[in-house]
Amino acid sequence: MALRSSSILFIATHVAAQAGFSPPSVQRCPGLVNDSSVACVDHYAAVLPYPFERAAAANGADPENDTFVGTSVPSDPSFVLLEDASFVVFDQARGLGILGSTPKLEKMFDTRNDSIHEAPVYVAGLNVIIFSLPHQGIYEQKIINLNDTPPTIADYTTTPPVYAVNGGKLYKGKIYWASEASLSFPSPSNGSLVQQTPGIYQLDPYTGKVVTLVNNYYGTQLNSPNDLWIDSKGDIFFTDSWYGYAINVTTYPVHTPATYRFRPSTGALSIVENTLEQPNGIGISPDGKTMYITDTGVTKFERAPKDVVPRYTYNPFGGKSVYAFDIHEAPPGSYITNKRPIWLAETFADDGFHVSREGYLLGAAGTGVDVLSEYGELILRIEVGGAINNLQFAGAERDELWLFGSGGIFRVGGLEGIHGMEKE
Ligand SMILES: *[C@@H]1O[C@H](CO)[C@@H](O)[C@H](O)[C@H]1NC(C)=O
Ligand SMILES: *[C@@H]1O[C@H](CO)[C@@H](O)[C@H](O)[C@H]1NC(C)=O
Ligand SMILES: *[C@@H]1O[C@H](CO)[C@@H](O)[C@H](O)[C@H]1NC(C)=O
Ligand SMILES: *[C@@H]1O[C@H](CO)[C@@H](O)[C@H](O)[C@H]1NC(C)=O
Ligand SMILES: *[C@@H]1O[C@H](CO)[C@@H](O)[C@H](O)[C@H]1NC(C)=O
Repeated sequence: MALRSSSILFIATHVAAQAGFSPPSVQRCPGLVNDSSVACVDHYAAVLPYPFERAAAANGADPENDTFVGTSVPSDPSFVLLEDASFVVFDQARGLGILGSTPKLEKMFDTRNDSIHEAPVYVAGLNVIIFSLPHQGIYEQKIINLNDTPPTIADYTTTPPVYAVNGGKLYKGKIYWASEASLSFPSPSNGSLVQQTPGIYQLDPYTGKVVTLVNNYYGTQLNSPNDLWIDSKGDIFFTDSWYGYAINVTTYPVHTPATYRFRPSTGALSIVENTLEQPNGIGISPDGKTMYITDTGVTKFERAPKDVVPRYTYNPFGGKSVYAFDIHEAPPGSYITNKRPIWLAETFADDGFHVSREGYLLGAAGTGVDVLSEYGELILRIEVGGAINNLQFAGAERDELWLFGSGGIFRVGGLEGIHGMEKE
């Protein structure tokens, strides 16, 4: 009797293990069969043949190794196609339309590997990208000149200088910067001491002049504004997380991490969201009806040693979702409701965040970029290998995608179905 039921159980589990599995999980993509940089994943690899194993940061693995493409699937040889792929396509109809027939990822510049790279903004009128290295002791920004062939990179200093810029967006010809630093620092141009607090700054990229727009909340310092978005009325929505303290460019945080609306015409600074662990990237849909805010609560500040920078540890159970909110207009400015998670980052968490003209959502997450639909479906991943912090569309058609990470700046060319918004 006992023997009989266990043999039935064996047959049942054997059948269950096979059901639904149709190898290979990964294929060369239609139209791109000779291009080893592109791989197509079948049915999101929803059923993998046993055994399979992914390095889990929750079990102590290096978070950089906790990736879908690094998953070991020994009995499905097709899975190794992901190893060399720069573009991993999950949704063929939309993904291959975005990539076109000749997508190409190139490293353009080597950069410091001890700093993140943030706040890239493309200024079409000058054909340049201005970006920042928020890192203690780096007091200038950088400029990439796309008029040169190949593009060149140089230091860039504003008047007055701004330290530790982490977020940037373009609005009506001006760059808006979220800056994290509260320390006095020597001006890169003449060494005189510059005073600053975390806040929102406005740069005229044609003159290099900077104006402070907001530098306090009723006399208290902001923690460290991280990223921002300017809506059609000119109201500035910005996330205020704890990363300025993390990189030791400001004091211990004084406010809970939150997202604010700042109205330059009245000076009013209002909270709009305070439930994310560490609000980070922010964007608005092309129709102005939906706001997206990413959470990078995987960085945990409690009990992180103060004498090691960055001052956080990795918490695999921390926030790593992208949230969507409905935008409602009101006299003092828009407010947001109906918070809903639309994407749980499959690796790390989404940091630098941009919305394309088509409404696709792009988040720099771990060693690459998530390209999502407006509903948070993963369409494709751009895999770079090293950490990517932010991204920016550039070029006359805004169809070149520049990726900024520790150690390297990359360009994705040949894209056909995705473009930057003019105001981004
Ligand atoms: C792939 O390359 C082979 C050999 O060069 C060529 O015959 C074939 O047409 C190519 N296929 C595609 C889809 O480009
Ligand atoms: C991460 O993966 C790389 C490449 O496979 C390996 O060399 C390294 O030891 C891994 N790191 C950890 C902490 O497991
Ligand atoms: C970072 O760059 C320095 C200087 O180029 C180099 O010595 C070091 O090995 C690099 N570290 C990593 C983790 O790549
Ligand atoms: C140094 O440059 C700043 C602007 O960055 C200017 O305000 C200041 O007057 C300059 N100081 C000297 C001594 O030239
Ligand atoms: C943090 O910055 C201060 C200067 O403001 C410096 O004295 C201190 O050594 C820095 N701490 C670390 C851990 O780098």
